[in-house]
Amino acid sequence: MSNDVSKDISHDWRMKMAKVALVTGGSRGIGEAISKALKAEGYEVAATYAGNDEKAAKFTEETGIKTYKWNVADYEASKQGLAQVEADLGPIDVVVANAGITRDAPFHKMTPDQWKEVIDTNLTGVFNTVHPIWPGMRERKFGRVIVISSINGQKGQFAQVNYAATKAGDLGIIKSLAQEGARAGITANAICPGYIATEMVMAVPEKVRDSIVAQIPTGRLGEPEEIARCVVFLASDDAGFINGSTISANGGQFFV
Ligand code: CAA
Repeated sequence: MSNDVSKDISHDWRMKMAKVALVTGGSRGIGEAISKALKAEGYEVAATYAGNDEKAAKFTEETGIKTYKWNVADYEASKQGLAQVEADLGPIDVVVANAGITRDAPFHKMTPDQWKEVIDTNLTGVFNTVHPIWPGMRERKFGRVIVISSINGQKGQFAQVNYAATKAGDLGIIKSLAQEGARAGITANAICPGYIATEMVMAVPEKVRDSIVAQIPTGRLGEPEEIARCVVFLASDDAGFINGSTISANGGQFFV
């Protein structure tokens, strides 16, 4: 009898425990909106950032979301950082690999450094973020891996050979992880945002940006919250049968 009660209590306690979500690049841009949306949904959220201490501190002050600083391009730093998050908050149930950079240049001007930096951060960074916590997800028989890819991984983009290669690579990652994780209760999906009103897009020269917006049937840039809502859905129990998929959120700019 007493065993039954303790089982019930433990069950009850587990039911009440918030799931833990980690968002890389989670204090700025699309990542900031994702962190906030997951928190609003009841997740215990950790957000990583790479460099901007001031912005991260402001973000924590405003949202109460804890931030962690490491470079996703560095495997050992990622492994240690992830272990710290799990020590602080508990096992990571939902991982959103969002951190990304651009180093745009027409191919004839692109330097090997510009190629490498983007590959290391946007592609290897996804490996570094998911690989250390994958065994735990397998053991616990639950996980949600969500990778923020891009419309430009689907269609390519002038001056983005490096970036488009990484974002297309993200789709290969989730399609493979989906097959490996399915039996362990893990799903892996990608979101391909179109042009969203963030610093990254605002850094595109205005004339070029105007010509891009002209190609979006919706007639406007997307909002970070529109991507965050896709993440919340993919992270939810309701999305358990969605695995290896890509949600395109691009205002009708490109159809797969
Ligand atoms: N399609 C065709 N031609 C283009 C072009 C495009 N999208 N963008 C630029 N060009 C042309 C210019 O018209 C110009 O042509 P001319 O030489 O005939 O004048 C030429 O390319 C520019 O050549 P430059 O040698 O002057 O280029 P640059 O070395 O100064 O580089 C650039 C400029 C980096 C390409 C700049 O135009 C740029 O940033 N373009 C935007 C690239 C882009 O869309 N990036 C996406 C960032 S947002 C993001 O990545 C988020 C996401 O996931 C969607």
